[in-house]
Amino acid sequence: MTLQKIKIQGGIPLSGEIAISGAKNAALPLMAAALLTDKPLVLTNMPNLADITSMQALLDQHGVHLSNDASQKTLTLTAQTIHNTTAPYDIVRKMRASILVLGPILARCGQAQVSLPGGCAIGVRPIDIHLNGLRDLGAEIELIDGYIHARAPNGLSGTTITFPVVSVTGTENLMMAACLAKGESRLVNAAREPEIIDLANCLISMGAEITGAGTDTITIQGKKHLTGTTHRVIPDRIETGTYAMAAAITKGSIHLTNTSLNLIPTVSSLLQKAGVSLVETSTGFQVQASQESHQGVDIMTEPFPGFATDLQAQMMALMTICQGASLVTETIWENRFMHVPELCRMGANITVHGPSALVRGVPQLNGAPVMATDLRASVCLVLAGLAAEGETIINRVYHLDRGYERVEDKLGMCGARIERIDE
Ligand code: EPZ
Repeated sequence: MTLQKIKIQGGIPLSGEIAISGAKNAALPLMAAALLTDKPLVLTNMPNLADITSMQALLDQHGVHLSNDASQKTLTLTAQTIHNTTAPYDIVRKMRASILVLGPILARCGQAQVSLPGGCAIGVRPIDIHLNGLRDLGAEIELIDGYIHARAPNGLSGTTITFPVVSVTGTENLMMAACLAKGESRLVNAAREPEIIDLANCLISMGAEITGAGTDTITIQGKKHLTGTTHRVIPDRIETGTYAMAAAITKGSIHLTNTSLNLIPTVSSLLQKAGVSLVETSTGFQVQASQESHQGVDIMTEPFPGFATDLQAQMMALMTICQGASLVTETIWENRFMHVPELCRMGANITVHGPSALVRGVPQLNGAPVMATDLRASVCLVLAGLAAEGETIINRVYHLDRGYERVEDKLGMCGARIERIDE
C-alpha cells in the first residue's frame, strides 16, 4: 500500500455545490441485513468507501454473492446460503462495524463466531451490550481464543431488552436478530439515529414487522423468513455537517445537495447560533458563512438528536477561529480529542480538562504538517488546513478514505487547492 498525504494551500473561501453521498453508517448495517434472507437485497445510493469494501470482503467470505454496479452506486447482495459463520480477526480488526454480522448470522444459522474487535483510537469500545442482548434472546455466548462463539440451536426467542447505554450498532444488531426470533421483542432505551430508522424501513420492506424505530422503544414481531427488496441508502449526515463546516470555516458559500437539514437538527441550530446561515432548498440547503468571525458556541456530544460525536472534531476546527471561547464536551468516546494537539500545532488555543476542551478563538490558523489519527480527526485537519494561511500536509490519509468519498474532488470543485500526493 502506498502511503498518501493530502496537501492543502489554505485561505480560499469555498464556493460551489457538493452532492452528499449515501451514509456509511447506514450502508454498513444495511449490508449486514442481507444475511437475514436468501433473496437478493438491492441497495442504491451506496457510497464508494474503504469501509464498504471491507464489509463486502467480510460478507463475501461468509458466502454472500455481491454484484457491484459502481456507476449506478448500486450493490446487490444475495445470501442464498451462508457457508461460513465465522468473521475472522483480519477483517474485524480493520473495521469494528463487522460486529453487525453477529446478530443476523446467529439468527439465521443458529450459530456465529466473530472475532473480538480489540482496541480503537477513539476509546475502549466494548461490545457487552450486543452480547448481553443476544443472551436475553436466548443465545449461549462464550469467549474463546479472542472469538465470540454464539449458539442458539433452537433459534432465538423474543423478549424485552433494556439497554443500559444507548448504542447505535447494538440497537441495529439486536433489531436484525429479533426479526428472525420467535415472538415479540422490545428494545428499550434504543438508539434513535436516522440510520436506525433507515435500517428499520429496509427490514420492513423485507417483510419484517417493526414499530417505534426513531423512538427509544422499538417493537419487533419475529418472522420465520424475510425476503429481498430494493432500498435507497439515506444521505450521510456526518458528510453533510462536515461540508457545512467547511463552508463556514473558509467564510465561503456552498450548496449541499442530495441531503436535508432534518438530518442534523442540533448541529444546524448550533451553526446558526455561531452565525452561519443555512437555507433549505429543493435539493438540500445553502450554507453561507458570516463575513465577520463566527461566535464561539458550547457543544456537548450526545446520542441523536443531540450533537453527533462524529462531528465534534470538525466543529472544534471551526471554533478555533471564532470570536470568544467555546467549551466542547465529549460524552460518547473517552479518547476523542486526539486532533487537539494537531490543531494546536496550527496555532489553535485549546486546553483539555477531562472530557471537555476549552477552545479560545484565535484570529487565524497557520499551515503545518499534521498527523491524522482517525477518520473524523483527519477531516477536522482538512478543514483547519482549508482555513489556514499557507500549506498544510496531512499524513495517514487512509483514515479519510474510510468515510469520505472523493474528498479532494468534492472540495476541489468548490475552489479548494487540495491534492493527494504519494509519500
Ligand atoms: C456508532 O458506533 C458509529 N459507527 C460511530 O461512528 C459513532 O461514533 C457512534 O455510533 C456514536 O454515535 C457506526 O455506526 C458503524 P455505540 P457504535 O455503541 O455503534 C458504549 C465513525 O466515525 N458502549 O453507539 O460502535 C460505548 O463505549 C464512527 O463513523 C458500551 O458501553 O457506538 C460508547 O460510549 C466512529 N457497550 C457508547 O456506548 C457496548 O456494547 C456509544 O457507542 C457498546 C457501546
